[in-house]
Amino acid sequence: MTDSGAAPAGTGREIILLVGAVGAGKGTQAAILSAELGLPHVASGNLFREALRDGTPLGEDAREYMQRGELVPDDLTIQMVMERLARPDAVAGAILDGFPRTVRQAEALDETLAAQGERIDRVVFIEVPMDVLVRRVSGRWICPTCGTTYHLGTDPPRLAGRCDNDGTELVQRDDDRPEVVSARMAKQIPPMDAVIDHYEAAGIVTRVDGQRPIAEVTAAIREALGQGAASR
Ligand code: AP5
Ligand code: MG
Repeated sequence: MTDSGAAPAGTGREIILLVGAVGAGKGTQAAILSAELGLPHVASGNLFREALRDGTPLGEDAREYMQRGELVPDDLTIQMVMERLARPDAVAGAILDGFPRTVRQAEALDETLAAQGERIDRVVFIEVPMDVLVRRVSGRWICPTCGTTYHLGTDPPRLAGRCDNDGTELVQRDDDRPEVVSARMAKQIPPMDAVIDHYEAAGIVTRVDGQRPIAEVTAAIREALGQGAASR
């Protein structure tokens, strides 16, 4: 119970965080869980890419950072994600993919939720070794229409080069060029580790072996979420 008499934390929306390095499978798993749980998939990277595509001021501000493989500044990112979480479809909760990525973002999220008598339910850390990450990202193709992610080796579309859902021609992400991937790893893994430490202190992190096939990773995450619910 807060000083103001608000409802106890944990009784509000179901907020699940998926954390992992570039190519760990956050987006793949978030899309599956979003459909299963009926919660929106809120991916900060997708929000930035939409803003870039739509030519908004936010997209213009984010462009240079994304092209260099750097994190977009906290203020811009926090504001964008908080606005997204305030939309009506997130009233029951959300699956957050790629946010928070810094301790400052994590603290901002914690504070916003606490002000509403809410808290994060579970943080799932998808762990994948570096060499596997590089192979994953180099084989990734995405649908620019619906955002579905494929992998030429492990999760190919039924018809080569076309999205299973809408037939759109698949594309590769601009920031999946090898030199940008290296920069993303070098610059973004240390702050991600600090975010994990932040939530480890709260005892809400479950580590999942992300090297396994997609369906097995999903099963492990489901189990983690079941444990999370049971421990509340
Ligand atoms: P973002 O889009 O979030 O990129 P990322 O974190 O680098 O992660 P990815 O989307 O590359 O990987 P993923 O974990 O989603 O993997 P996926 O499921 O696609 O961010 C882009 C940029 O935006 C950042 O660099 C930054 O500039 C900015 N940004 C975003 N959020 C920010 C924030 N909070 N703060 C500041 N800046 C921010 O899978 C990868 C591939 O592997 C796919 O081909 C998939 O089919 C395959 N695959 C997945 N799982 C498996 C499996 N189990 N086995 C085999 N293959 C698999
Ligand atoms: Mg992603």
